[in-house]
Amino acid sequence: MTPRKIIIDTDPGQDDAVAILLALASPAEINVLGITCVAGNVPLELTARNARIICELAGHSELRVFAGCDRPLGRDLVTAEYVHGKTGLDGPDLPEPQMPLQDQHAVEFIIETLRNEPKGSVSLCPVGPLTNVATAFNKAPDIVEKVQEIILMGGAYFQVGNVTPTAEFNIYVDPHAADIVFRSGAPITVMPLDVTHKALVTQARNAAFRALGTPVGIATAQMTEFFERYDREKYGSPGAPLHDPCVIAYLIRPELFTGRYVNVRIETQSELTMGMTVADWWGVTDLAPNAYFVGDIDADGFFELLTERLGRL
Ligand code: RIB
Ligand code: CA
Repeated sequence: MTPRKIIIDTDPGQDDAVAILLALASPAEINVLGITCVAGNVPLELTARNARIICELAGHSELRVFAGCDRPLGRDLVTAEYVHGKTGLDGPDLPEPQMPLQDQHAVEFIIETLRNEPKGSVSLCPVGPLTNVATAFNKAPDIVEKVQEIILMGGAYFQVGNVTPTAEFNIYVDPHAADIVFRSGAPITVMPLDVTHKALVTQARNAAFRALGTPVGIATAQMTEFFERYDREKYGSPGAPLHDPCVIAYLIRPELFTGRYVNVRIETQSELTMGMTVADWWGVTDLAPNAYFVGDIDADGFFELLTERLGRL
């Protein structure tokens, strides 16, 4: 099997970090062409720092990391230090990055890559606000038809919001960018809170990370121990939801997930429901489906895959 070529667009964030580690641990299935950073969980300067810290932790300082947009298209930046800590990567004590940040802007890298690679051969994996992707689509509409698939973490339907009563964080931070992406016509697979809230790092699963005994295993245990506080307090969850790694696991073992192809629209008008992903789950409109909206996961299978792969780094 030829590894799938992907660009990970990210706002690390501990769960983003685990997603990057899983991708880098899976070269037979995934060829990471580059990592593009966006403002989200923490400001851009920190997301660009954190992405490089994780690449070096994985032993991949050769990877190209790009800084992208430092604010949403049409709103003030909302960050989530209350979940991820001041640095965005609180938990483990990891060294400052030595590898360089690329000079090229992340949006230009996305455009150039999609223009240069064969049509339908590159997938975009956004796991933060969609500002970089939407900006690239606005600047170079010709690249939309070249995208193989967008597999993104964002949104919610049955789980409703985690940052407002109706909106999930990634979509809420930049609803206008999300609206552009969901209207683009590119093939989209969505990992919403409906599925990621079923991928919980229980104590036993955290112990399995730590039992790897490697810097990656121990750091993953420390990262997930840190960022579980928010969900424990809010939802009474038995552990941290591993939102972003669901995107990467889907590329490796799609059979772990089930969903429904539905129409998804983004609320961009009302502050009451700003950033809501309005999924027509029951087909009550005649609107054409535009996204595969994932609702369920084989959680044991997911953690078995994740732990085994992390053990390879
Ligand atoms: O709502 C969860 C999402 O917001 C995850 O991608 C997390 O990293 C934050 O970006
Ligand atoms: Ca993220």
